[in-house]
Amino acid sequence: MKYDTAIIGGTGFDQIDGLKVLDRKVVRTPYGDPSGVVISGKLDKSHFVFLPRHGTTHSIPPHKVNYRANIWALKHSGVKRVIGFAAVGGISEDLIPGTIVIPDQIIDYTRDRAHTFFDGTTGNVTHIDFTEPYTASLRARVLAASDKSEVSVVSEGCYAATQGPRLETAAEIDRLERDGATIVGMTGMPEAALAREMDMDYVCIAIVVNAAAGRGTKPITMTEIRKELKRGAKEALRILVNL
Ligand code: HPA
Repeated sequence: MKYDTAIIGGTGFDQIDGLKVLDRKVVRTPYGDPSGVVISGKLDKSHFVFLPRHGTTHSIPPHKVNYRANIWALKHSGVKRVIGFAAVGGISEDLIPGTIVIPDQIIDYTRDRAHTFFDGTTGNVTHIDFTEPYTASLRARVLAASDKSEVSVVSEGCYAATQGPRLETAAEIDRLERDGATIVGMTGMPEAALAREMDMDYVCIAIVVNAAAGRGTKPITMTEIRKELKRGAKEALRILVNL
């Protein structure tokens, strides 16, 4: 069974409520094992492929995700477009927990991650164009689906990808804001760039689950993050079924 759209589920999306699983496939890749089996499934009338980024039991931290294996596995399962779900911290004051953001830009602060398929072993030096890191046509479809689902989203944003797994210091968040970032997460890169290298469309649906460090009044806890995710995930899924 081949479907051309894949969901990469982030924190809180290790499983999709209501997903009817039609097929599970173990995919071996030249880069090692993906985060889990590649699932083909159906939600409402939508068919898609699903891969939980952190593993089915949420055991793989952001810096240990095998991003290359995940993207390779999806490409070789026939996928043409990828929707990456992400839990993020809100840097801009108005991006309060519960807000859904469809970012249009990325700043990459990650390090030491296997971040390219073009690592000099193929004989060709290749530089992808990454001016617009998210595919414009797919972003437009996600925004139209949000409208149709009556889910309100923030239609642009700059995603700062940090290394993790610790959260940031307040000074680091101040710096990200000066750089122009509006949301912060740990998994946006190299996933988006690898999808581009494999010639797949890619978009991110980001759910703000906490005020970034130094921005809120309370310390950031995993309990708070999980609670906000549960709420946001329901709305994000409504977008998905209308896509
Ligand atoms: N920072 C980085 N990653 C995150 C955050 C955050 O505040 N919240 C959820 N993922």
